[in-house]
Amino acid sequence: MLPPSIKRYHYWTGLLLSVFILAHLANHLVALWSVTAHLEVMEALRSVYRHPVVETSLLLAVVGQVFTGLRLYWRSRQQPRQPLAGRIQIFSGLYLAFFLLVHTGAVLTGRAWFGLDTNLYFAAAGINTFPFSLFFVPYYFLAVTAVFLHLASLHYLKGRRIWGESGARRQALGIGGAGVLVALLILFAMTNQLQGFPIPADYLRALGK
Ligand code: HEM
Repeated sequence: MLPPSIKRYHYWTGLLLSVFILAHLANHLVALWSVTAHLEVMEALRSVYRHPVVETSLLLAVVGQVFTGLRLYWRSRQQPRQPLAGRIQIFSGLYLAFFLLVHTGAVLTGRAWFGLDTNLYFAAAGINTFPFSLFFVPYYFLAVTAVFLHLASLHYLKGRRIWGESGARRQALGIGGAGVLVALLILFAMTNQLQGFPIPADYLRALGK
């Protein structure tokens, strides 16, 4: 039996991370308009999330979210087989645990080890350079989709009591569908509308090129 604080902790760190992730993904969507606008919005957001107190809280939330999520996954394995929504929640959560650790680790390594400004070009380097794109395109697509699927399944499981079975299912499908659309739009922006970005040499060096 898990202490109830694990679930509560997962909820609060998830809420904090959701605020960051929403702003983060919206910022990536701004790149659909222009890279300059995206970089300007990122600078404005950085003045908030790179404040030492905010960034430390965010990084602790990443570690806490992954740790508590894995504990919840372990508990679910000892319970009877979950319905589809429960399984979607578990598998999207497992992918997010992997992604959060690798993605945050890569950003911190890019900054501390390679001395890079981890801006759009840092992510675009992997997405636009073959054969790295074979990994990075699905890696980012699944990450954005997993965020929305994790929230959609939670919404369905909790919202059934309020909106009824079919209402909650419709809304959850809407959230999941929005996730696929947002993931495709971000990749469209990150590939310079499928035409590819010229990547500065420093960012290619981080890929070992
Ligand atoms: C296609 C989607 C995404 C791209 C291209 C992307 C790219 C980036 C980039 C370039 C940074 C560095 C930002 C900076 O230096 O200011 C960053 C930071 C970060 N991203 Fe993402 N990201 C994506 C999706 C996500 C998702 C889905 C999550 C969470 C599930 C996430 C979580 C984070 C976190 C926690 C950081 C570290 C923030 C910090 O500096 O403390 N990202 N991302």
